[in-house]
Amino acid sequence: MATYAIWNNKGGVGKSYLTFQLATEYARQNGNKRVLVIDLCPQANSSSMLLGGMFEGEKHLNEIHEKTPRNTISGYMDDRILSPYVSPNSGASYLTKVAIYNDNIPDNLHLVVGDELLELQASKVYGATNPGPQDAWRIVHIWIRDLIADIKKSWNQDDLCIFIDCNPSFTIYTELALTAAERLLIPFSADGSSQRAVRAVLSLVYGVRRHQGEPQSEFFLNSQRYRMSLPGIHMYIGNRLTQMNSSSASAFKTIVNEIGDEIWDVWQSNPASFCLHPAGASTPGSRRAFKHMTDGGTKRSRR
Ligand SMILES: Nc1ncnc2c1ncn2[C@@H]1O[C@H](COP(=O)(O)OP(=O)(O)OP(=O)(O)O)[C@@H](O)[C@H]1O
Ligand SMILES: [Mg+2]
Repeated sequence: MATYAIWNNKGGVGKSYLTFQLATEYARQNGNKRVLVIDLCPQANSSSMLLGGMFEGEKHLNEIHEKTPRNTISGYMDDRILSPYVSPNSGASYLTKVAIYNDNIPDNLHLVVGDELLELQASKVYGATNPGPQDAWRIVHIWIRDLIADIKKSWNQDDLCIFIDCNPSFTIYTELALTAAERLLIPFSADGSSQRAVRAVLSLVYGVRRHQGEPQSEFFLNSQRYRMSLPGIHMYIGNRLTQMNSSSASAFKTIVNEIGDEIWDVWQSNPASFCLHPAGASTPGSRRAFKHMTDGGTKRSRR
């Protein structure tokens, strides 16, 4: 079990939907384990889906947002803006048991509800990274790790399955999510902008340069500077590929192949950025074996 961030630097690829599906299904199959979703996206789409979907979910979300104190991720962020460098250990008070609002969701699924206030808080969070103590950047970037630690402590459980839904853009709270995550799930769809976003993830998080002399992100450089661990790439998820009709099938296959080729190149040059296979499967040793692995995924999802 691990902490997974679901992120791609592109909107609409299914981050929230996959967060909802993965967390719910995992909770259903593991009724004796608590599962946690942290919604770090101001659109709060995964929260809305969990809380009942289009109408019910939005209604419940509004109810939660109207309460004082605010029982959402923004309530926790407010605590941290007031106490940026010393954890208030208040994380566990921002949990919502989803089944209270939506009885279709297993009892063991808990949520830190998303909140549009995150957008307004972002500049304050960023402001706390500088000035401040010498390692202010590092301390602020572990706020979500602190939140998770608070929850684990209150549940007296160290081994949790946690899903963090992220905003598409590389905002400060996306950075906080990535710092908290051990594994990264990258959904993509088969279009050119999704392909560019896959590249952007590699450069923004792992400092992968496509051209010599290209600047590297402050996030990558600071993570190196403070020796902070980055999430390992756990999985690229081709989402909604089945919606491609036969006329666009070859175009979509070309893009999927190109994305596969890029991932292979990164795998060659930066294998340390990837996670070990959880089932212990051996790593692909050639482009062909790698391609077979990604093709297999494509065929399965097109059935
Ligand atoms: N596999 C799928 N099957 C059916 N519908 C899907 C699937 N994946 C995503 N969707 C739908 O597509 C829309 C966009 O998905 P979603 O909101 O999850 O994307 P996102 O990456 O979280 O977007 P954003 O970047 O805006 O946060 C939603 O209406 C979602 O319900
Ligand atoms: Mg989303």
